[in-house]
Amino acid sequence: MKALHPDVERVLIDEDQLRERIAQMGADITRDYADVPGGLVVVSVLTSAAVFMADLVRAIDLPLEMDLVTVSSYGDKTESSGEVRLLKDLESNIEGRHVLIAEDLIDTGLTMSYLVELLQQRKPASLEIAALLHKHKESGDRIAPRYLGFDVPDEFVVGYGMDYAGFYRNLPYVGALKRSVYEADAQGLPAVE
Ligand code: PRP
Repeated sequence: MKALHPDVERVLIDEDQLRERIAQMGADITRDYADVPGGLVVVSVLTSAAVFMADLVRAIDLPLEMDLVTVSSYGDKTESSGEVRLLKDLESNIEGRHVLIAEDLIDTGLTMSYLVELLQQRKPASLEIAALLHKHKESGDRIAPRYLGFDVPDEFVVGYGMDYAGFYRNLPYVGALKRSVYEADAQGLPAVE
């Protein structure tokens, strides 16, 4: 097992927990969509959700297509800017298709609210969310993922695709970033050791 990254305070969800939970989510999705015609379109949100998507689709034993959008809300900050922008749209036409959004994290819920509204306008046969993590802030509770991996505390989480200032996405676990890292960054000191 890799040593804990020096910028990580503690592991919140380790590799075994991720593997087991995602296997279960995949089995639940496989069961629920077993009889839908035309299979699934799994839509994921770059960049953070790419790692979760890659593992989740391999746990789903059904015909499926993958598509990706890029939205932006955080920039390099630890708090949401409150703005969501679409930077890259879907490649596929989802009208009449069964769509499952695979997202790594619901925090304020802004990103998911925006995406659900955007995709609903395209008249999918169904639209559901599989989220790995949910922080349960007041605003984020507007969003109820049909499939949820873990509830997490309101801390800055990194790893398993999730970043701070573009780094830490390759950590194999979900960890809480040390406050000193982003506080040092706010003071203009190097963020990554
Ligand atoms: C993160 C995460 C979600 C979003 C959740 O992405 O992947 O998409 O924030 O936050 P919200 O519920 O407050 O909207 P981020 O904007 O950090 O971009 P990234 O995927 O490129 O890391």
